[in-house]
Amino acid sequence: MMLKKAQILNFTKLYRFGQPFKTAAVVCPVDGSAFEPVNTIDGMAMAFREGGIALTISLSPSDRVFGLGETIGALNKRGKKYRLYTTDDPVHTPGKENLYGSHPFVLAGSALTNPFGFFIDYPSEICLDIGFTNHNVMEVAIPSMNFDIYFFSATGRTLTFMEIVKEFLLLTGAPYCPPKWGFGYQQSRWSYPDAKSVAETASRFRKEGIPCDAIYMDIDYMDNFKVFTIDEVKFPDFQTFAGMLKKDGFRLIPIIDPGVKIEDGYGVYEEGRRRGLFCEAKDGSFFKAAVWPGLTHLPDFLNPETRRWWGGLCTRFLDMGIEGFWLDMNEPSIFYTPAAIHEVFNLVDEMKGNPDIPKRRLQDMLNKLSNNRAYFREFYHRTPSGGRVSNEEVHNLYGTLMTEAVADGFITNMPGRRYFLLTRSSYVGLHRYAAIWTGDNMSWWEHMLAHIRMLMSLNMAGVFYTGADIGGFGSDVSPELMIRWMQLGVFSPLFRNHSAFGTRRREPWAFDGQAFDIMRDTIKLRYALIPYAYSEFMRSVRELSPFIRPLMFDFDCRFDVEDQFMYGSSIMAAPVLLPNATGRYVLLPTVSWLYCRALRHDKWAVSVIPQGVHYIDCPLCMTPFFIKENSIVTLSEPVNYVGEREIEVLRAVAFVTETASFTYYDDDGLTDGYKKGVYSTLQINIVSSGGQYAITIMAEGPRTTKIKRIDFEIYGRNAGLCRCSRQLPNQ
Ligand code: GLC
Repeated sequence: MMLKKAQILNFTKLYRFGQPFKTAAVVCPVDGSAFEPVNTIDGMAMAFREGGIALTISLSPSDRVFGLGETIGALNKRGKKYRLYTTDDPVHTPGKENLYGSHPFVLAGSALTNPFGFFIDYPSEICLDIGFTNHNVMEVAIPSMNFDIYFFSATGRTLTFMEIVKEFLLLTGAPYCPPKWGFGYQQSRWSYPDAKSVAETASRFRKEGIPCDAIYMDIDYMDNFKVFTIDEVKFPDFQTFAGMLKKDGFRLIPIIDPGVKIEDGYGVYEEGRRRGLFCEAKDGSFFKAAVWPGLTHLPDFLNPETRRWWGGLCTRFLDMGIEGFWLDMNEPSIFYTPAAIHEVFNLVDEMKGNPDIPKRRLQDMLNKLSNNRAYFREFYHRTPSGGRVSNEEVHNLYGTLMTEAVADGFITNMPGRRYFLLTRSSYVGLHRYAAIWTGDNMSWWEHMLAHIRMLMSLNMAGVFYTGADIGGFGSDVSPELMIRWMQLGVFSPLFRNHSAFGTRRREPWAFDGQAFDIMRDTIKLRYALIPYAYSEFMRSVRELSPFIRPLMFDFDCRFDVEDQFMYGSSIMAAPVLLPNATGRYVLLPTVSWLYCRALRHDKWAVSVIPQGVHYIDCPLCMTPFFIKENSIVTLSEPVNYVGEREIEVLRAVAFVTETASFTYYDDDGLTDGYKKGVYSTLQINIVSSGGQYAITIMAEGPRTTKIKRIDFEIYGRNAGLCRCSRQLPNQ
C-alpha cells in the first residue's frame, strides 16, 4: 500500500492512498512536492479488509458526531450505521442507511475534547458504523485502496465546529447562491396536467394575495416523458406562456430527468446514440434502464462531451425565458432492466402452470426490482484516458456530474447571471453550483423533524440553500400538519410546497377558510423576513459559515437540541412539531430571548424569556421564533414576488440590553456581481444606555440602497418597547 501525507490549508492533513479517482470535490490546489510517505494516519487505526481499508476512531463519552449531509436519523450521528451510496428510496423510515446523496464529511468532538473532522474523497460506497456496534468506536469501511482523506485537527489549540466547516469549505469551495427570488415561496405539484392548470394556479395566488415566486413543472409537461420535449398539445406556445407568467412575477421551473427514451425519431435519443454519449453495457451496446418513459439510455455524464451536449440541450428552454431547472432521478434511479423484468415474467408464467408457487417469491422479486444494486455493476462510463469504469466504482458522482452539465449550460448561455438549480442526488462539490431538496418525504409529523435535522447537516456540508417538500411529498396531509410545516418553511431556505400525484391537494386554497388564512399570513411572514434572511444568507456565503446551525455551534457544547436551529445570527427557530400541541418545550441557551409569536407579518405577541428550559405557548395560528438578546432583525412589507417593487422602508425589530448590530445587505439579486463586491450594506448599530437607545446607520458599498427610512421597534430587558424612525440621507 502506498500512503503519503501533505499538510495543506490552515490545519488540514491530506492522506493519499494509492491513486484516487479525480472527483472534482476539492478546489484547493495541492502541491505534489508537499507529500511525504507515511505509514499511519494520525488519530485513526487502520486495517486491511476485503480489498479495502477499515479505519477506526475512538470516541470519548462526551463526543458528538455530526455531518454526513443528507441522511436519515438524528443530528448527532452516534448510535447508527450509514451507507454512503446514492439511491432513490422513497420511504424514509428510521432504519434506512442511505438516501440520495453522499457527503463523506464528518465532525466529531465536544467542549471537553478537541473537535476534529474528516472528509473522505471517494466516489463509491463508504460504510460508517458510528458507535452502533461499540458506542465508543467509529468505524469507516472503504472498499478500495485508492482514495484521499482530509483530516481536520489542530494541536495546541481547540478548534470549533464552525472553524472545521470553514476549513472544509476552503477546501471544497464557496456555496451556491440562488437568485434572490429563490427566497420566495414556490409552488409545485406532480400532476399540473397542462398550461391552463399552471396558469390558473398562478392567477389564484395573485387573486388571493398570496406571495409566490415560482411554479414547478413536473414530468407532466413532457411529451411522453421524453426529456427536453414539451407536450405541444398540453403546453402550446410555451415561450409566450412562460413570458406571460414571468410578467406576473412567476418563474417556471421544469424538471429534467436523465433517462433518454429509446425511440426512433426522437432527436435527443438519436443524437446521443450517434455520438456515443450513453453509458454502455458490458458488451459495448448502450445500457438499457427503465424509468418514467419506459426503456431509456442513461447519458454518460462522466464524459465531458456528454456534459457539454446536455448543457447545450438546456438552451432551448433558456431561449424561452427559463431561468431554473429541477433535476431528478439522478442517483441514477432505475425501475428495472430488461433482464430483471424478464425474470419476473418467467416467474409469473411458471406460477400460471403451478399455483403452488408461493406468492412470496414473486413479492420478493418485485421488491428487488427497483434500484437493485446489481444494475450499477452492469453499466460503464468512458474515462478521459479512453478506458472504461463501471458505474459501481464512481456511483455517487452521477447526479453531481449531471448537475454540473446543466450549471455549465446556464453559465455559458447566461454569463454573469445567477440561475436556479435544484437537484436530488449529490456528492461533495455540488454545493458550489446547485441546491438540493431532500426527496420524497411523507406527510408525517416525524418528517418535519427530519427536515430540520437535514437542514442543519446539509448546511455543515456546504449546502446552505436547501429544504424539504413542505407538507410532505407522499400521502395525505392534515390542515394542522400543513400549517405547522408552513411555519417551519418560513425558516427553510428553500420554501417549496410539493406533493405527489394522487395525494390531497396542498395549495393554500385547498384547505378550509381558517387554515387558508393562516397559510397566507405565514407565507407573508416569510416575505417580510427576506431582508433579514437574504442579508444573513449572503454573509454566511461570504464568511463560509453555515446559515442554519444547531445551537451547539453557537453556544455551549452541552446543548443537545435537534428540534431548534439558528437561522442566521439573530433568529432561532423553534417550530411546533407535534399534533394537537398548542405549545412546546424550548431550550434557550446562554442569554435572554425575545419570544415572537407572529399572527401576521405585522402582528406579533412578544415577551422576554430568560435562558433555561421553558414551555412556551404557541397556538396553531401563530408562527413561533426567537430573537437573540442584543441582536436585530430587518423586515419589509411583503410583496407579491421578490423584486415587485423597490424596498424603501425597512422595519428593524431589535432586542437590546447592551449593544446590537446588524449588517443589512442588498444587491441586484440576479447577477454574480456580489462575487466582485457589487453590493451595498447598511451597518445598523444600537446602543442601550440609561433607558435610551443610540442608533447609528452607516451605508457602504458601490450599489446604493434604495432604503429611505428605517422604522425601529426596540425591545429592552422587560420587553418595554421603544419605537422610532430614522431617515437615511439621499444617496
Ligand atoms: C420523484 C421526485 C418527485 C417527483 C416525481 C415525479 O419521485 O422525487 O419530486 O415529483 O419523481 O417526477
